[in-house]
Amino acid sequence: MHPHLKEILFSREQIEEKVKELAKVVSNDYEGKYPLVVGILKGSAMFTTDLIKEMSIDLELDFMDVSSYGNATESSGEVRILMDLSTPAVGRDIILVEDIVDTGNTLKFLKGLLYERGAKSVTIISLLDKPDGRKVEIEADYYGFIVPDAFVVGYGIDYAEKYRSLPYIGIFNQEFL
Ligand code: IMP
Repeated sequence: MHPHLKEILFSREQIEEKVKELAKVVSNDYEGKYPLVVGILKGSAMFTTDLIKEMSIDLELDFMDVSSYGNATESSGEVRILMDLSTPAVGRDIILVEDIVDTGNTLKFLKGLLYERGAKSVTIISLLDKPDGRKVEIEADYYGFIVPDAFVVGYGIDYAEKYRSLPYIGIFNQEFL
C-alpha cells in the first residue's frame, strides 16, 4: 500500500471484477444503440478505457475535461469546461462515465448541458458513489461501489494530481495534505 494512504477500499482484482459486471449490464441496455461514451477527465480516464474494453457493443468514445475542485479536497460548487467534446451531442444516446459522485454538481451541470445540446438520452455511470457528500439532486444510473465520506485516491482519482496511477482505491491520509 502507498504510504500516504490510510487503508485500501477496493483492490485491483475487485475493481476489475466490478468493471466487467458494469460493462455487461451497460452493453445489454445499449444493444443496437451505438452510444457515445464520454469519459470525464482526468479522474475517469482509467475507468473509461477499462470499461469500454469489456463492452460487447459498438460505441463511440469521446472525452470532456471539467474541473470543480482546484487543488482543495472540498468541492467549489463551480464547474468549468477545460476541454469540450469533439463529437456533436445532438441526437446521440450518451453515456457519461464518471469516477465518483460527491456533491453531484459536476454531473448535474453536464447532464443539463448535453440535453441543451440536443442529446437524445444521457445516462451516467460512476465507479464510486459518495452519498453523504450529495448537495444537489442527481443520481447515476449505474454505480460500482459506495464509499464513505472520506477523501479517496487511486485508479485515476487524484489528490492535487498525485496517486492517479495506483491500481487500487484507498482512503488518503490527510496528514499528507
Ligand atoms: P462533485 O461535482 O462534487 O460530485 O464531484 C465530482 C468530482 O470531484 C469527481 O469527479 C472527482 O474528480 C472529485 N472528487 C469528489 N470526491 C473525491 C475524492 O474523494 N477524491 C478525489 N476526488 C474527488
